Amino acid sequence: MSADLAINGGSKTRDTSKKPWPSVGDKSGRLFGQEEIDLLTEVVNSGKLFRHGGRMVDQFEKEYAEQVGLKDCLAVTSGSAAIHAAVAALELEPGDEIITTTITDIGSVMGILQCNHIPVFADVDRRTMIMRPDAIEAQITDRTRALVVVHLFGQPAPMDEIMAIAKKHNLYVIEDCAQAHGAEFGGKRVSTIGDIGCYSMQQSKQITTGDGGMVVSDNDELMARARMWHDKYYERGGEMRGYMRLGICYRMNELTGAVALAQCRKLPEILRRRRASAEALYEKIATIPGIKPPWVHPDAKHSWWIFSFQIDEDVLSCDVATFRAAIQAEGMPFGTGYAGGIPICMYPVFQEHQAYGTGEFPWEPPYGRMVEYREEDYPETYWAQANTFITSWNEGYTEEDAEDIYQGLKKVAEAYS
Ligand SMILES: Cc1ncc(COP(=O)(O)O)c(C=O)c1O
Repeated sequence: MSADLAINGGSKTRDTSKKPWPSVGDKSGRLFGQEEIDLLTEVVNSGKLFRHGGRMVDQFEKEYAEQVGLKDCLAVTSGSAAIHAAVAALELEPGDEIITTTITDIGSVMGILQCNHIPVFADVDRRTMIMRPDAIEAQITDRTRALVVVHLFGQPAPMDEIMAIAKKHNLYVIEDCAQAHGAEFGGKRVSTIGDIGCYSMQQSKQITTGDGGMVVSDNDELMARARMWHDKYYERGGEMRGYMRLGICYRMNELTGAVALAQCRKLPEILRRRRASAEALYEKIATIPGIKPPWVHPDAKHSWWIFSFQIDEDVLSCDVATFRAAIQAEGMPFGTGYAGGIPICMYPVFQEHQAYGTGEFPWEPPYGRMVEYREEDYPETYWAQANTFITSWNEGYTEEDAEDIYQGLKKVAEAYS
């Protein structure tokens, strides 16, 4: 073990008090500028902040749909709202089951339960933390109606195999692209492969309005339902006949639309920057014995929301906790675990079947099934949460930052090899 290591009193690879890492939490890791200010000023000067009758949200929807390569985009208030809208647009029955993943943000799952459907969870691939096709298939029952597929960390899920399963079992596919603006699988942009796609523009995402989201699809029927539902089933421009179904109000306003439009136009440059620095880091750390860079599916084009790696404990003489402490002491920005470090299905809301009041609706018969979410069904999830190092990536990272990370990881790996 080397005395040079910062954890043993040596000097740090990077003194982050003098040279902090760029962050998605402020301007250092975000691409904001005059473009956002100009469009915001236009909105304020117009006096019109409501989307109907305004210009920004409409224009953003048009340009984002064009970027993704689909006919239609609906802007909403968050990524969670987008998932909720996509699930609502399917018009399923209470108690119907939707399969999703154990490693994601709770926003992937809340919309399922809010529409009174039962979330069922599939275990992941330990290399990517993305749900596995065989694990999905193992969870299908006669009540399964849809999948919420999460493209985690900016890497697409294996959509060829997942779409084959969906076709075989006649399931809708919602693509949760909250973390994956610009990612592609097999040359196709995520959100264009399944039936309907959802994005988030929360502060940390590739493009951001602080909070915001989008639903995208070529399916006119699903989009018409999502659009009516998100606007309280208000018949804009038509004769008001009274509200038709239970809807909600998830409308985006013009101020958010202005920032969304400016950010949408910057997405190609944001992706270029993220890919340049992340791919440089990937190449460098792949040369360090004992470090395994993130496994990327050969058909995937990553959009780098999170940069991850794993260590090879057969090569290194330390465990994950020791390695983590040592790289953090070097000033490296990595931790382990994601979203609390426990599988989503272990959260009390699922363990206790406690969505509303004191009953167990929608799990309880006659609506649904008392699905039990058991630790032993998710061995790969537990392994991946404990053994994967992650850091949030952003467009502020440079090749110089990548070099510093390489030096820090190399120093620790060599000390423990
Ligand atoms: C995969 C995934 N889905 C959904 C969401 C929910 O998005 P929002 O925070 O905009 O509601 C997030 C947010 O982090 C996410 O990462």
